[in-house]
Amino acid sequence: MSVNAVEPVKVAVIFYSATGNVTTLARQIAESAEKAGAEVRLRRVAELAPQAAIDSNPAWAENIKAIAEIPEATHDDVEWADALLFGSPTRFGNVTSQLKQFLDTLGPLWFQGKLADKVYSGFASASGKHGGNESTLLALYNSFHHFGGIVVAPGYANEALFANASPYGVSHWNGSDIDETTLTAASAQAERVVATAAALKAGRAAAVA
Ligand SMILES: Cc1cc2nc3c(=O)[nH]c(=O)nc-3n(C[C@H](O)[C@H](O)[C@H](O)COP(=O)(O)O)c2cc1C
Repeated sequence: MSVNAVEPVKVAVIFYSATGNVTTLARQIAESAEKAGAEVRLRRVAELAPQAAIDSNPAWAENIKAIAEIPEATHDDVEWADALLFGSPTRFGNVTSQLKQFLDTLGPLWFQGKLADKVYSGFASASGKHGGNESTLLALYNSFHHFGGIVVAPGYANEALFANASPYGVSHWNGSDIDETTLTAASAQAERVVATAAALKAGRAAAVA
């Protein structure tokens, strides 16, 4: 899907991942948003866990190394973006403290009204099939509502999203490696976000012209 907005839509994909599952989804979403015509910033949030905890889990240490080349998210990335997709693994059915900490630093932007009217969407990962992806996404979406965001959830809006059956946001559970259905749905979610943000951007540009 390509976009005919006045200017390319600016998309920030901001995520936390310990053991790499959310990293895979974030990379897929960033790549698909770019293919859909957006200018994209892929960003990781800061790790807050002690080094000893990271070193105790080889998959965690490996992921930290693999994402070191991805810049750390800043407030400028949030202010810059027309649309933001946030990704988090579940932690007891909730958003990770690492991603939440980044969200909690956004108070000054919120206070200036700079978080409002952007498009927001989320993605997640859990170890159990019913382990908390939905509650994690809904918890994440609480913040989007407070931002005054325009929440674009995947729903069952097209064949790929219907097949993935994850209406709150594309999500994975660790029963297997991330499969094609999930990756295809991640792309479809990215395209849906870009298309919605492009329509809004074009409509707003036309309204002031
Ligand atoms: C402290 C902690 C709490 C967790 N809580 C849950 C949980 O409530 N439900 C679940 O299914 N998985 C839970 N997990 C597992 C991760 O959410 C899951 O492995 C996820 O896929 C990791 O994503 P990542 O590879 O991007 O880090 C927890 C993991 C940790 C370390």
